[in-house]
Amino acid sequence: MSKRRSAAEAYEKIPTIIHDSSAAAAAALAQEVKELITSRAAKKKTAVLGLATGSTPVSFYRELIRLHREEGLSFKNVVTFNLDEYYGLTPEHPESYHRFMCDQLFDHIDIPKENIHLPSGLVPSDQVFEHCRAYEEMIDAAGGVDFQILGIGRTGHIGFNEPGSSRESLTRRITLDRITRQDAAADFRGEENVPRFAITMGVSTILRAKKIVLMAWGENKAGVVTKAVEGPVTDAVSASFLQEHAEARFFIDKGAARELTRVKLPWLVGPVKWSPSETRRAVCWLSSSMDRPVLKLIDEDYNEHGLSDLLSEQGPAYKLNINIFNQLQHTISGWPGGKPNADDTFRPERAKPYPKRSLVLSPEPQDAVVSLGSTIDRLVEQGHDIRVVAMTSGSLRVADSEADKFASILQEIATLSPEGWDEQTDYARHILRLLEEKGEFGEDQPALRQLKSLILRGELRDAAHALGIPQEKVQFLNLPFYERGRYRRFKLTPEDTSEVVKLLQEFRPHQIYITGDAADPSSVAALSFRALEQALAELQHEDWSSACSVWLYRGREKALEPWEIDMAVPASPMQLERKARALTRYQSLTTLEMDVTKVNQGTAQQYDALGLANYEAIESFQRWRKV
Ligand code: F6R
Repeated sequence: MSKRRSAAEAYEKIPTIIHDSSAAAAAALAQEVKELITSRAAKKKTAVLGLATGSTPVSFYRELIRLHREEGLSFKNVVTFNLDEYYGLTPEHPESYHRFMCDQLFDHIDIPKENIHLPSGLVPSDQVFEHCRAYEEMIDAAGGVDFQILGIGRTGHIGFNEPGSSRESLTRRITLDRITRQDAAADFRGEENVPRFAITMGVSTILRAKKIVLMAWGENKAGVVTKAVEGPVTDAVSASFLQEHAEARFFIDKGAARELTRVKLPWLVGPVKWSPSETRRAVCWLSSSMDRPVLKLIDEDYNEHGLSDLLSEQGPAYKLNINIFNQLQHTISGWPGGKPNADDTFRPERAKPYPKRSLVLSPEPQDAVVSLGSTIDRLVEQGHDIRVVAMTSGSLRVADSEADKFASILQEIATLSPEGWDEQTDYARHILRLLEEKGEFGEDQPALRQLKSLILRGELRDAAHALGIPQEKVQFLNLPFYERGRYRRFKLTPEDTSEVVKLLQEFRPHQIYITGDAADPSSVAALSFRALEQALAELQHEDWSSACSVWLYRGREKALEPWEIDMAVPASPMQLERKARALTRYQSLTTLEMDVTKVNQGTAQQYDALGLANYEAIESFQRWRKV
């Protein structure tokens, strides 16, 4: 049954709470779970929790641990059932969900071992059916799940119920979807290492829970959240089955809420306060949904598409159109560092000082070239003092085959000039041995990790060189949170921030490029962004800092929409080609990420369709507003 609580949520078929941040959402959820546990404990009863893994619930588990340590919350009466486990992994494997749950929760609370249940990844094939049936029975014998915690995959899966899972499905073995395996590729150092199967609770198992909360963070999840909440109930998006549950809710952050109708097209659901940004969004939306350039929109278009308020407040159409057209026009600039000796009243970046010290921050070594390769190209050409800084080593993304290739070549060179190459030969042998000992699912030893990070360094230097940046302008921060962590569970520390503080104090930039503001909060990009945010807050009284502009780019997530863009830097076909060439230097990048030039062409097409100039490609930026 859908619960409609306000006109703004009329499109939503599952009660959806948009929290200010994932931390706030996790704290609210932990509070609810605490109440359940304590009220059950008071009656000497158990509380049965259904638990998820992945990056989403990490902050929730950290909060539960805090409640245990600081507020005395006991888990003695708690029984847990996890949603799923990779098939083929031992419980000790660093990426197994067994290990994840111990590291992230169980080892830090007082839950009795016998109360913990996860499907086994090691049951022989011919016993899988029986194992799954027994899992269902154990859940029922415990009285059913009282509170089920869920995340959502980009395929819309809950648990590992990939598209096609039926409403009636029970605990079973499932083949993982391609997208799910791609999303897990970084965890396993390459898609080819991601297990092909998992054992998961079924949709019907999940729907038997008495209460359900699904959490989702970051704009990467925005599209699938909207499908689940507003779309039809379909086995193509298994989370949409939650619409049929009377006690299911979504807890999401602003990033994941981006595509909901009440956020994206608020005028369709109720009265809107027409701020400049809402106005720009509405006019761009009208233009693209009418397939008509902004300057050709007429009064009737506004009236007939739910924008009569806007028209009566700011119309007539030609006035509104020209106003927005000019705003969009002013975002376009081939001078990302500002145009020297030009009137900069309507330019995105100020003319002075010239040249500028431009700091390009790349959370992982490939991010900046992927997202602003052409802009970097222009900054160099226009004489700015540019510094490209890879904030983390990115070594966890480098495939074993790359390290193998390097060590094998080294070994071969040694056979060509045997004199004095003993150390190199030993090194190569050592690396090859580490690779062999590591096996299919093992962890990288420090020496292997170091080599992988050097390989990626080389690739960034190469890519930078292709964009005209000399080696000495490329820097590697190696932030400790990355070196000590793993994907989906990195943790920022004050040491990370102080590294960024040192960098800023030394370079004193006039402008900074960074990404990660709207990303999944546990991602490398989001943590790198937070490190910068904290560093800037610490340095806010330094004279350069208040004058420093911060430009946000999008990393691997969705491109900015035209109404969000404050600076659109066009690229000519040749510049785009140069960027594509620079990108080929990253041999560890997947083809998906290489498609980025298409993203830039897409933005240019959107500008063209709005009636602006027709460029080959556009890289887009948003001005960072401190909130
Ligand atoms: C994990 C699970 C999955 C994840 C989903 C999102 O136990 O069942 O459905 O919740 O894949 O993963 P993250 O949170 O890593 O984005």
